[in-house]
Amino acid sequence: MKPLAKHSFIILLYLTLSSTMTMAQHKTISQKVDSLLNLMTLEEKVGQMNQYNGFWDVTGPVPEEGNAAIKYEHLKKGWVGSMLNVTGVENVRKLQKLVVEESRLGIPLIFGFDVIHGYKTVAPIPLAEAASWDMEAIENSARIAADEASAVGINWTFAPMVDISRDPRWGRVMEGAGEDTYLGAQIAQARVKGFQGDNLSAENTIVACAKHFAAYGFAEAGKDYNTADIGTSTLYNAVLPPFQAAVDANVRTVMNGFNVLNGVPVTGSAFLQRDILKEKWGFDGFVISDWASIGELVPHGFAKDLKQAAELGANAGSDMDMESSAYVLHLVNNVKEGKVSEEKIDDAVRRILTVKYELGLFDDPYKYCNEKREKERLYHEDHQAGVLDMAKKSIVLLKNEGNLLPIKKNQSKIAVIGELANDNNSPLGSWRLGSDNHTAISVLDGLKKYSNNITYAKGPKVFNPDASFLNHVQVNETDTSGMEEAIAVAKQSDVVVLVLGEHGFQSGEGRSRAQLGLPGLQLNLLKEVYKVNKNVVLILMNGRPLTIEWEAENIPAILETWQLGSQTGNAIAQVVFGEYNPSGKLPMTFPRSVGQIPIYYNHNSTGRPNAQPNVFWSHYSDEKNDPLFPFGHGLSYTTFAYSNLTIDSNNPEYVSVEVTVTNTGDRTGEEVVQLYIHDKVASVVRPVKELKGFKKISLAPKSSQKVQFTLTNKELGFFNNAYEFVVEPGEFGIMVGTSSQTGLHGNFIKN
Ligand code: NOJ
Repeated sequence: MKPLAKHSFIILLYLTLSSTMTMAQHKTISQKVDSLLNLMTLEEKVGQMNQYNGFWDVTGPVPEEGNAAIKYEHLKKGWVGSMLNVTGVENVRKLQKLVVEESRLGIPLIFGFDVIHGYKTVAPIPLAEAASWDMEAIENSARIAADEASAVGINWTFAPMVDISRDPRWGRVMEGAGEDTYLGAQIAQARVKGFQGDNLSAENTIVACAKHFAAYGFAEAGKDYNTADIGTSTLYNAVLPPFQAAVDANVRTVMNGFNVLNGVPVTGSAFLQRDILKEKWGFDGFVISDWASIGELVPHGFAKDLKQAAELGANAGSDMDMESSAYVLHLVNNVKEGKVSEEKIDDAVRRILTVKYELGLFDDPYKYCNEKREKERLYHEDHQAGVLDMAKKSIVLLKNEGNLLPIKKNQSKIAVIGELANDNNSPLGSWRLGSDNHTAISVLDGLKKYSNNITYAKGPKVFNPDASFLNHVQVNETDTSGMEEAIAVAKQSDVVVLVLGEHGFQSGEGRSRAQLGLPGLQLNLLKEVYKVNKNVVLILMNGRPLTIEWEAENIPAILETWQLGSQTGNAIAQVVFGEYNPSGKLPMTFPRSVGQIPIYYNHNSTGRPNAQPNVFWSHYSDEKNDPLFPFGHGLSYTTFAYSNLTIDSNNPEYVSVEVTVTNTGDRTGEEVVQLYIHDKVASVVRPVKELKGFKKISLAPKSSQKVQFTLTNKELGFFNNAYEFVVEPGEFGIMVGTSSQTGLHGNFIKN
């Protein structure tokens, strides 16, 4: 087409589209999508299914050669539906303008980014947030992230990760909600609501993405990208429900993954993406591949080349190709050769365009390009307050012998020891790509706000100071300098606060660990300090459960603080000095040793569960069966007593369970009251315990509250191996208590 003719065509097209729009404002999105689809060539359709990584510094010259030049040309041709990792209003606007003004149909791009736990203002890592069991706070945290991300042009986050995992060796457990499906499903919904809000077209809400579909968290031996081989019962009952919960909460996108599941790479699995997600669950958003996972069908040995990978990916229901170029290079030919039907392409494109309409991008492609919001929303003080609230609630008090905690303000001489205590970068955690380095409040700075009687000693060096998202963290194993000073400082103090753990970049993608103890010389430091001063408060920072058996046996007070983000120091100081009474509960079991992994509370019973005088029962010869700290464990500065468990199963529709919880201590505290069921005999073996309800309550000293739970078929049923949801009559055990290990027990018969 000549330039002038092209110009007139575009004007005509816009007139047609906009007059169609004004004529029928009420035209449904699906009608608008169909009209647009009718105008598109096959190449343009496939273009919508292509996502590229950012490649161009828009303040520099236009790329003229190489991959960047190809991507640039593809953008102009309308062969790109989405970009990832392009942020900042100026950059986003420039690319959007290129596509809207220069491509034939001017279909706006959608801009994706990993907004995992905050953008500039960083919230606790998701595993930490899960420890709060506080859905309102978690939703609010996702909303804050959406508010900031949308202010820099982003309108799609690759979160929440809803992968259940029972393996702390897997570095990505920091990104999820832990080991439990019920808790994980609630959190999935809270996060989706937080990101997407009630109105996706508002300028401060963004599209969420439930990932990684499915079973990525079951990577064998906890090694990232590894094969997952799990049975149908685990797939249906443990892995899939959080995804279904996200779909029920109207999540608009789902990401597949890198792993093979039972012999088929999930990216090439029609069973997962078409049969279950789109057919059975009725998901009407779109599926994005994981980074290059369509191309990776080749090294998996599932496709012979990139062309076949494109064919298999599209046929399996992967709607958009993240950065492997398989679709843009080969899908048109695959269609022409009859290997992929045009109906399948139309279906994928329809889904993608629908989400773009829902975001309001066709009304205003620059909706998320608001310089004023970009200036005002980042690091907003309300956001700082929100992530501080989230951070306090994420802390778990693992142990508090002799009520060593809280420390009385200004009454004791405090030693603060450990490199991590004075670190304002590592506590931001992994997966915080939008944040600025060194913007966390360190523990030391936080504690100093409450006491001017603090002496700090770094102790031996632990990590390389320039640790980053891209490479492994280096750990010092040999240089003990700093040890003596730390011991001397500990000796002269009334109480020692030791801050130890993993570096923020020791967990996350590609960061599997085979040893889960404290890295480097940290345990030696702890032991040396403990020799000279027994009043040790251990503040742990880590992105996964650790094996800390010696620590748990010997150290009187232990706080699990994970990586708490921007407000780390303030949150920890409030807990250490008793301004906030800790209320978190573990979302993942802490093993005693790596050999116990996978260890999780809701395991099946074996045929030989009970100890015998001989060896022929299910146990280890060199390790206990029970965990170091169980799922759901977490103490408070006060104490709670449970009494009067009553179970009423007279109503055929539901079972009502009630318990009285009393604050028996002398300060106000919050308790997460947990309800577990055990379906004692079933056609598919049920776990020994399953969380099916929880309530977080606050109680004044000496006061009591009745807490009520309702169990319906939804809670009492399960998926059988044919993926049918069944509710079977029979006897159920009930436990209501303070953790998955401690509570009051009862029974009822379900007719
Ligand atoms: C790979 C990760 O697995 C995925 O979770 C992430 O969203 C993409 N990279 C994009 O960064």
